[in-house]
Amino acid sequence: MDLHPVPADMAQLVREGLARSPKQLPAWLLYDDAGSELFERICEQPEYSLTRTETELLTRLGPELAAALGPGALVEFGAGNGRKVSPLLAAGRQSACVALDISADHLRRACEGLRERHPGLPILGICCDYSTLDALPDHPLLRQPRIGFFPGGSLGNFAPTEAIRLLRRFGALLGGNSRLLIGIDQPKAVDRLEAAYNDAAGWSAAFALNLLKRLNRELEGTFDPEGFRYEARWEQEASRIAMALVSERSQSVRVAGERFHFDAGEPLITEYSVKYSPEHFHALARAAGWHPLNRWSDPSGDLSLHLLWRLERANSLEQANSLEQANSLERAN
Ligand SMILES: C[S@@+](CC[C@H](N)C(=O)[O-])C[C@H]1O[C@@H](n2cnc3c(N)ncnc32)[C@H](O)[C@@H]1O
Repeated sequence: MDLHPVPADMAQLVREGLARSPKQLPAWLLYDDAGSELFERICEQPEYSLTRTETELLTRLGPELAAALGPGALVEFGAGNGRKVSPLLAAGRQSACVALDISADHLRRACEGLRERHPGLPILGICCDYSTLDALPDHPLLRQPRIGFFPGGSLGNFAPTEAIRLLRRFGALLGGNSRLLIGIDQPKAVDRLEAAYNDAAGWSAAFALNLLKRLNRELEGTFDPEGFRYEARWEQEASRIAMALVSERSQSVRVAGERFHFDAGEPLITEYSVKYSPEHFHALARAAGWHPLNRWSDPSGDLSLHLLWRLERANSLEQANSLEQANSLERAN
């Protein structure tokens, strides 16, 4: 199913994002086909350990995690190349796989790979933005009981209040009594974090700069990619990496039918990556109506796989308390 936002909607988002202060665009715009391929290269870099660590955990614990998730159609949010879900599907507990992602061609290839690795298992790819999950067309695989999988620390791309909204949306799609396995990257040494998001080989920079090429191609932009440099900085108070393209000079750019001015040194935020301790993440999950059931971590405590259970009728007192904790994190942001 291809439900990718149409150019007019993208243009509107870009105009809104460039009118903000600081300028910031939705992170999903990074993922056109070239962006998805560049992200694959980032995952192979020695500085970016997240993919290796999470894959190792999933491979080692696949049968245990698949059993803990229980039966149903496994819905993966932001499936990327579709490889991380395979150790779960290989355990044979789930009846189908629904892979959701914004990057259409990359998703098509991911689904081909899934069909090859899991012959006979029904596979459905849905290209869409998470914000449209409540308007998915009817499909037999979405009528089965559903469980969710959201790896890669991708929740960190959303500010805490947006993350709560997103987890609620996932809950609405998955239905009452469902379970969600989610990979959360944790705070660690600043030099490691900054290096992970600004690898020496330059793939992180190429990934961010590809956004400008996309805007030029799809929204008649006039960005000069050489007029921007890439930066990734840890922001302690907000517990996040901020990734930005910084204007090298005072310049003005036309895109999506409007002109925008950049001062010399002005950042355009391409994405954030919030890192959550297990306690902070639990508060966020509870505020979204999810109850933490279990957690698995790598020996160094770099990241956790959290198993959440969606309460049929969320306990309002528990939600209120955890919302207060989530709000205090949001205030820090
Ligand atoms: C950080 S990558 C993670 C990919 C893969 N899950 C992994 O763990 O390696 C984020 C993935 O989510 C997709 N994505 C990002 N924002 C999205 C959105 N708003 N709606 C749907 N997919 C999105 C991207 O295309 C990309 O494949």
